[in-house]
Amino acid sequence: MNISDRQSQHGQWSSRWTFILAATGAAVGLGNIWKFPYLTGQNGGSAFVLIYIICVAALGIPLMMAEILLGRRGRATPIHTMKVLAEETNTTQWWQIIGWSGTIAGMLILSYYSVIGGWTLAYIVKSITGIFSGATGEFAASTFGTFVGSASSLFFWHTLFMVITMAIVAGGVQGGLEKAVQFLMPTLFVLLLVMVGYSMTTGYFGKGLAFLFTPDFSKLTGSSMLAAMGQAFFSLSLGMGTIMIYGSYVPKDTSIATTTIAIALADTAVALLAGMAIFPIVFANNLEASSGPGLIFQTLPVAFGNMTGGMIFGSLFFTLLLVAAWTSSISLIEPLVTWLIETFGMSRLKAAIYSGVATWLFGLGTVWSFNLWADLKFFGLTFFDLLDFITSNLMLPLGGILIALFAGWLMSAEHTKAELHIANPLLYTTWQILVRYIAPVAVFIVLLNAIGLL
Ligand code: PFF
Repeated sequence: MNISDRQSQHGQWSSRWTFILAATGAAVGLGNIWKFPYLTGQNGGSAFVLIYIICVAALGIPLMMAEILLGRRGRATPIHTMKVLAEETNTTQWWQIIGWSGTIAGMLILSYYSVIGGWTLAYIVKSITGIFSGATGEFAASTFGTFVGSASSLFFWHTLFMVITMAIVAGGVQGGLEKAVQFLMPTLFVLLLVMVGYSMTTGYFGKGLAFLFTPDFSKLTGSSMLAAMGQAFFSLSLGMGTIMIYGSYVPKDTSIATTTIAIALADTAVALLAGMAIFPIVFANNLEASSGPGLIFQTLPVAFGNMTGGMIFGSLFFTLLLVAAWTSSISLIEPLVTWLIETFGMSRLKAAIYSGVATWLFGLGTVWSFNLWADLKFFGLTFFDLLDFITSNLMLPLGGILIALFAGWLMSAEHTKAELHIANPLLYTTWQILVRYIAPVAVFIVLLNAIGLL
């Protein structure tokens, strides 16, 4: 059988539209609404945002195309896909490292993602009880401080988030969840617009916009550039094989280029809207823009507490954020689960239990980073910060480079052209230059610059 006619043993998307929705569901998550604003705040605002947008356009889009194309050609989990493609291109099996590193990165990311997913669950409950009614910035900040200071609370919510995630993965109800995403995602988008509307009434909207969009390069450092690049990979779910898996279910006639651009635009729009909703509230309430991972949990309750119908909006907002977190979580663990199934012939249930327990255990390190282990620093970072740094800023960009090199240099132009379906030769050449030269060189420069070697 010709390799390009292979199909994944795990199925195929029913249409291009299902693929766009599922990939957008994987891309849009806590990364856009929780992480993007706090990283922007920690890294001085506009210059970070600009570098982030450049990375999405110049690295993210071409690399996402490369990753989908590898998946569609290999039609298996990342580890097996790379094995098949290495055979096809007569190169060393060492390329499977892309699959290994991605599978491990996914599990490590989910271990802390689940803790933050747990915070979201807890905030649904807090919003419903109405404690944020009339909340000031100070109240929201101290509520958050007390919450994360309690190791047992975080333990409970992390466990609950993980159990539900693995039940979804084991039960194979992703299909149902993906259908739900069709209307939940647009609703989340509308709610974000409502939040931006609220922020316009704070009197600090202009200041928020200036913070996000008036470039101030004095704030730019090597490490903030690395953080922006890492966030582009994280937010688009690149460099770890998730998109490769999703690509492995893509029908042959789907245009990879237009699909990718649609996903990247939707993902970036959600992140920017979240920033526009949050920073005016930060400035209006004298909160600290650089306060870190608690930023949205300290700011949004102020908005909900002071707008009409805020209790309902607040509960709904955190619920939708939770759904967005779930669709991403499922994709984070999918490489490990499908690998266990393909390799050991395990049932889906067993694979989900093994993966879930290992991930949950690792997550305890993040639970304790905010309380018991708060003073325990590795290279000046807490366990959570270190884990995030290693995965987002090192593993994903390095995985991305390897994917770019493989698609750009080792696969024949005939094969990449056949998968990408780019009719315009100029566009194809642009893609090729980006994956062959620009992406690998840019990632290296940013990495070397951040560790002070440039
Ligand atoms: N892109 C997700 C987010 O922004 O929340 C996080 C993520 C999901 C990263 C899946 C990587 C991944 F493979």
